[in-house]
Amino acid sequence: MKESSFLNACYRKPTAHIPVWYMRQAGRCLPEYRKLKETHDILTLCRTPELAAEVSLMPIRRFGVDAAILFADIMLPLIAMGVDLDIVEKIGPVIKNPIRTAADVAKMRDIDAPRDMAYLRETIEIVRKALDSEEFSKIAPIPLIGFSGAPFTLASYLIEGGPSREFSKVKRVMYEEPALWHALMEKLTKNVIVYMKFQAESGVQALQLFDSWVGCLSRADYIEYVLPYSKEIFAALKGTRIPRIHFATNTAAFLVEFASVDCEVVGIDWRMPLGEARKIIGPDKAIQGNLDPVILLSNVDLIKEKTDQILAELGSTKGFIFNLGHGVLPDTPYEHLIALTDYIHTK
Ligand code: CP3
Repeated sequence: MKESSFLNACYRKPTAHIPVWYMRQAGRCLPEYRKLKETHDILTLCRTPELAAEVSLMPIRRFGVDAAILFADIMLPLIAMGVDLDIVEKIGPVIKNPIRTAADVAKMRDIDAPRDMAYLRETIEIVRKALDSEEFSKIAPIPLIGFSGAPFTLASYLIEGGPSREFSKVKRVMYEEPALWHALMEKLTKNVIVYMKFQAESGVQALQLFDSWVGCLSRADYIEYVLPYSKEIFAALKGTRIPRIHFATNTAAFLVEFASVDCEVVGIDWRMPLGEARKIIGPDKAIQGNLDPVILLSNVDLIKEKTDQILAELGSTKGFIFNLGHGVLPDTPYEHLIALTDYIHTK
């Protein structure tokens, strides 16, 4: 059987073609997903193994991507830690009692993954069994990616109470209440490690840490308030022996530091040309990115043109995984994702 081009690219080994998958590839751009959403809310979908597995497989059937990502949400471990929250349609996560004090942090319990997240293990087992079956693995194996939100991004929801533009509350805690900040980051780091190791033990074949909103920080603040925790997570995951991806948006100001963690792959958003990212990251790590998801709303000719630009800027495709700079937007015509996947596979 052939090898996975996605896994090989993570380790900068030769691949048959450029591997591609899309952040948020499972979701509202797919009619079959929207149909399921008519009768199930997002958290029910995530916590019902048969349904979560089905949604994880939808983009494999539709797009022919080279990797699947577990259908879950970065809020799931927080729920297991006892945080009361909702995921509100078109807004995102809303925390009922945002973190304000050390007592609020102390109240969050540690995850007992086999007990609290048994549904996740079951989902992973169902997806892996399907992916390993003849239907999906005929051409090449399709690995399953697990993921977690990073401590900063989780802390930003916990402190802001929901999505934010300015991140003023979370920064205020960082600057004015460092003891509270570090207590929260320590607790989140410990639990993110447990959560990601549990996914690896349950069968995921790569892990991505999403620090989606950390780009709101200055370089100095990233180094002081976030980087030590990200380093700790990646060091703890080394023993899983599966590729580790570090992703965030808006990292140009501190890409050297962001890429300095012990990982195999660095995810880049659309703001920085990949040739420049390659120079900063160096030759020893794979790069994942970086088409602006908004371009997928346009037309196939423009999508191809912008994709060609990315490949030209990148130069060598050794250790390269094509992806978007951030998640698929809900209004994306899914036909565009089919055309883009086919186009990348001709390269
Ligand atoms: O990539 C995939 O296909 C796997 C599924 C996935 C979801 N959430 C499902 C989901 C992944 C990888 C996530 C991660 C996630 N969740 C992140 C980090 C990635 C990123 O985009 O930066 C963040 C910040 C969240 C928190 C969150 N959950 C947001 C901001 C939203 C969107 C709210 C909205 O309605 O636009 C959610 C809800 C959510 N999680 C949806 C999906 C498919 C959409 C809502 C729904 O279908 O009801």
